[in-house]
Amino acid sequence: MKDKLQQLLEKATQALADSNLIDEVEALRVRFLGRKGEITTLLKTLGTLPADQRPAMGQLANEIKEKLHNRFEEARQKLAQTARQQQMASGTIDITLPGRQQFHGHTHPTSLVIDDITSIFTRMGFNIARGPEVELDYYNFEALNIPKDHPARQMQDTFYVSEDVVLRTHTSPMQIRVMEKQEPPVFVIVPGKVYRCDSDLTHTPMFHQVEGLMVDTRITFSDLKGVLTDFLHLFFNPKVKVRFRPSYFPFTEPSAEVDIACVICHGKGCRVCSHTGWLEILGCGMVDPAVYKFVNYDPEKVSGFAFGMGVERLAMLRYGIDDLRLFFGNDIRFLQQF
Ligand code: FA5
Ligand code: MG
Repeated sequence: MKDKLQQLLEKATQALADSNLIDEVEALRVRFLGRKGEITTLLKTLGTLPADQRPAMGQLANEIKEKLHNRFEEARQKLAQTARQQQMASGTIDITLPGRQQFHGHTHPTSLVIDDITSIFTRMGFNIARGPEVELDYYNFEALNIPKDHPARQMQDTFYVSEDVVLRTHTSPMQIRVMEKQEPPVFVIVPGKVYRCDSDLTHTPMFHQVEGLMVDTRITFSDLKGVLTDFLHLFFNPKVKVRFRPSYFPFTEPSAEVDIACVICHGKGCRVCSHTGWLEILGCGMVDPAVYKFVNYDPEKVSGFAFGMGVERLAMLRYGIDDLRLFFGNDIRFLQQF
């Protein structure tokens, strides 16, 4: 047995000297030292030896196993190092290259602007409400003083779901839903998606509005002007040029639209502002007494104002973007700039 063990040691050492691949070394290790390896197999016959020879033989076997184990390990390390050196020399690893960058997701510019708008108004004391995008004709039109045959229905190109159900064309139906549920005072803003059959540089079929409604006793048009002017100064800067222009909405009286000086051309006139120097950002007005009738408020006792602003318009002006459609294109090169 002693001879056999010595022979195995020599055989293994010889084989090791002949191999110069890591895989070969590993195969040899398994062949000699593995659980079914040659040395293990030989040791299984230890029991057939006379009892007084067994301890000495066991010790020898262990010494040889350890020697072999160390030689295999040494050979493996040497080969791994050579391989690494060859790889470095052949230039496949350029350690001067920058690491791989992780891709980080982040907030869409539209959401950034909505967050900003809501934070300014909540600081002024407004609450936030949300409502359905698939809306009854009653809330989108009827209760806003726009009956079925009213010409103002053509102001907004409506997507109809059925005769009585529409995709809301503005956030104004939430004025009714909020007032139905609560007594004055009402201080609420409503951010959300709205839909219109409309598409060009400054119009998209889906866009975002933020509705505002303030109803209490003795609310006047100067409150409306004050709140909106403060908001625009906080959202843009205190020097931004703002103008209130008389307008018409069936659910407000008097009504106005607010424009701000075009930031693309600084008022000189360009394709974004249709060469007027101004861009419309919101509609507003004093709530029409006819609307209070639908929610059982007493128009003799309460008064208030409402407004509805276009979120993407505000975003265009803040970031100087000249095409509204970029917000919906999901072009990563565009979105990564915010
Ligand atoms: C309205 O939607 C009224 N509900 C606003 C209102 C609310 C008036 C409360 C009075 C009281 P208008 O259709 O003008 O009004 O739209 C309001 C704003 O939404 C516009 O000033 C504009 O900034 C934006 N907007 C309108 N249509 C589009 C569109 N297709 N794409 C992007 N933004 C739009
Ligand atoms: Mg308008």
